[in-house]
Amino acid sequence: MANKLKHNPIVGCMRWGVWGENFNTKQYEQIIDQCLSIGLNTFDHADIYGHYTTEADFGNALKGNSSLRNKIQIITKCGINMLTPNRPHHQIKSYDTSASHIVKSVEQSLQNFHTDYIDTLLIHRPDILMDVEEIANTITTLKQSGKVKSFGVSNFTTGQVDLLNKFIKIEHHQLEISVTNLNSFQNGVLDQCQIDNIQVQSWSPMGNGLFTEQNEKHARILATTKELSNKYKCSINEMLLAFLYTHASYIVPVIGTTKFERIIEAKKSMEIELTREDFYKIWCASTGLEVA
Ligand SMILES: NC(=O)c1ccc[n+]([C@@H]2O[C@H](COP(=O)([O-])OP(=O)(O)OC[C@H]3O[C@@H](n4cnc5c(N)ncnc54)[C@H](OP(=O)(O)O)[C@@H]3O)[C@@H](O)[C@H]2O)c1
Repeated sequence: MANKLKHNPIVGCMRWGVWGENFNTKQYEQIIDQCLSIGLNTFDHADIYGHYTTEADFGNALKGNSSLRNKIQIITKCGINMLTPNRPHHQIKSYDTSASHIVKSVEQSLQNFHTDYIDTLLIHRPDILMDVEEIANTITTLKQSGKVKSFGVSNFTTGQVDLLNKFIKIEHHQLEISVTNLNSFQNGVLDQCQIDNIQVQSWSPMGNGLFTEQNEKHARILATTKELSNKYKCSINEMLLAFLYTHASYIVPVIGTTKFERIIEAKKSMEIELTREDFYKIWCASTGLEVA
């Protein structure tokens, strides 16, 4: 795969606030600067991160700093109503993709980030009750007003993408894809992204729980990626992302680390050219089976 077609990792901010490191404003400024210093300029959020607090924490680093705002791209999401003391009127966790909810969420995100535009807005989860024409009309209006620059979805099925794509161009699809979750490689989602020219973004690209939960599958993956990391003279983390970067749909990892050393490694993973056999060694370590 030609290196120029690989896209820099997106920096996920879900663990930067109260759901993780609880950075203060200085620490946000520092890590944003560090990311920019190695060319990573896109930051992934959702309205709900940190029980609706992380956007505003990140936004404090942008307050009154329009030159910084102009250097970065902000992705955020809406569509989940979370049960939390910060939203006491929610009675149950549920989904809402109504026009009023999307507009209200975008307005709140704009306020949180001290900005007048969101670079990319994603619908976070497919809402069972979604009215795709209503979503399309709402996003079109938000785009026309300049408040949202590009649009996508997250965790949709191929059928749901086809349905919504009939009414509005889906530009990005964010899914869980990693060595521990191979579903998208085989359920048609990645094929659809290539057919419809949709950017693929992978969340939890390091393999949900790979480093924290001990089981046979994780042990196989860690042993194989360790062996390959010696061959390619890189870390296991780099090998996990190189695995994703090898696929022809140009998967963009949304990395969740809070450590700058690992962010640097994520960037370096783009330089690795895995052989086909080594890709399949990792694949088989994950499935525990030979390919047919
Ligand atoms: N669209 C969606 O539905 C959705 C869902 C979930 C997440 N997301 C997005 O995706 C981003 C990434 O998700 P994620 O955080 O699950 O991704 P991840 O990059 O797969 O995992 C990051 C976590 O793994 C730990 N880790 C990484 N390498 C490690 C190692 N070698 N040893 C021990 N621990 C290690 C990190 O700890 P350190 O911080 O110590 O490095 C961090 O806790 C989020 O920030 C969010 O923006 C989207």
